[in-house]
Amino acid sequence: MATALITGGGRGIGLEVARELARDGYDVLLGVRDPRRAPSLPRSRVEQLDVGAPESIAALGKRLAGRGERLDVLVNNAGVYRSPPRETWDVNVRGPLLLTRELAPLLAPGARVVMVSSGLGSLSGQPETVARRLRDPALTVDDVLRLSEAAPDGYGASKAALNALTRLFARELPDARVNSVDPGWVRTEMGGQGAPRSVEQGAASVLWAARVPPDGPTGAWFRDGKPIPW
Ligand SMILES: NC(=O)c1ccc[n+]([C@@H]2O[C@H](COP(=O)([O-])OP(=O)(O)OC[C@H]3O[C@@H](n4cnc5c(N)ncnc54)[C@H](OP(=O)(O)O)[C@@H]3O)[C@@H](O)[C@H]2O)c1
Repeated sequence: MATALITGGGRGIGLEVARELARDGYDVLLGVRDPRRAPSLPRSRVEQLDVGAPESIAALGKRLAGRGERLDVLVNNAGVYRSPPRETWDVNVRGPLLLTRELAPLLAPGARVVMVSSGLGSLSGQPETVARRLRDPALTVDDVLRLSEAAPDGYGASKAALNALTRLFARELPDARVNSVDPGWVRTEMGGQGAPRSVEQGAASVLWAARVPPDGPTGAWFRDGKPIPW
């Protein structure tokens, strides 16, 4: 059976993505910080995961490998918006980086890895020092890890770094389809009730990338299935 792991799957966009992937027939692993508060979804199992804590990521990797799990879809959805830079970079950048590295050996051929980014993550919107580093053709995943330790600037810069990671992992994992998506401005706890998009619409943008075929695009940034300039 095909398996999908969604981080931050307990509410908001992540929960809707999980619900739809379960409808698609996936065995869904719902990554949540507090399993006691996890929603109950058909065809899903709850996995404790705090993406801001490297030891939690390592423990999940160990559990999944120990059970012989293979992943067909990994959605790096968990994110924070109005948090201090340290937490923002730990959750939005270091988390997806370490988790993708940890789980890479468990990815099935043709697996889809989705990074949930933001329209605020365009390179042109970032301080020049950050944009220059992310644009560097010699940039590596370890460079992004070091950048996340420095936590320069806030949310937008963290999502620009996530987009850079998307390109780098697409190169490192040629058998997988690794893409980054902007869900748009969505009515969740993060987006607020004044946002123009429903949770279903935001999730649809994410689901598009979770459903790309094995010969589909990789290493690019999309909104509603359409490429957007980085
Ligand atoms: N909503 C928007 O308008 C919008 C726009 C652009 C991009 N996005 C992106 O879309 C993604 C989902 O956002 P959302 O709108 O669904 O936000 P949300 O309703 O605030 O949900 C955030 C999710 O992230 C989880 N999370 C936060 N810190 C975590 C950590 N350290 N470890 C594990 N999970 C953690 C939360 O889990 P808990 O329940 O444990 O807190 C929750 O499930 C984020 O990456 C966000 O940046 C959202």
